[in-house]
Amino acid sequence: MNEQLPEIERMGQQAADCRGCDLALKRTQVVWGDGPATARVVFIGEAPGRKEDEGGHPFIGPAGHLLDELLERAHITRADVYITNIVKCRPPGNRDPRDEEILACRGYLNAQLRLLRPRAIVTLGAFATRLILQTGAGISSVQGRVFERHGYKVLPLYHPAATIYDLLKKEPFFAAAPLLDELVNGGEACDARDDAS
Ligand code: URA
Repeated sequence: MNEQLPEIERMGQQAADCRGCDLALKRTQVVWGDGPATARVVFIGEAPGRKEDEGGHPFIGPAGHLLDELLERAHITRADVYITNIVKCRPPGNRDPRDEEILACRGYLNAQLRLLRPRAIVTLGAFATRLILQTGAGISSVQGRVFERHGYKVLPLYHPAATIYDLLKKEPFFAAAPLLDELVNGGEACDARDDAS
């Protein structure tokens, strides 16, 4: 094991053999996460899809192209942020992740956040938003607003894949670009404004 690797990468290597839930039986590989250990902002999606399962990196399929477009509009590159998912292995057929799978993976996400200590978290879609905000509020009522949770600013957004099928979600998804720009590139001016509980 390479001693020069940041702790978060070493942890990812250890998680590569994870057998914490049944997703291990069908996955090609664990998709741990990508980005610098110094990232100010962490994006959290739902679970790897087919492309991610094959390639080993988060958001490299069609949803990833939309995420890249959002980043570009916010004057951000992937090298500026950390990207991961609440569930690190692909659910067969891209079905929704089950509660027990989310729970089995939760320790990994907690450890990633503890090591990264980001300024802000961007949750992509209803599953990541529910987990991080601990709210029963629907994604449409919180998308694009900044919340404060456990010392993090949290910006919930629609899942990029949802904007492919529901064009009404596309405009509000991309409208978050200036806020994102401020969270990543701005000073401390972007104060939390809302409470979803
Ligand atoms: N959808 C997600 O939620 N995460 C990925 O990594 C890819 C698609």
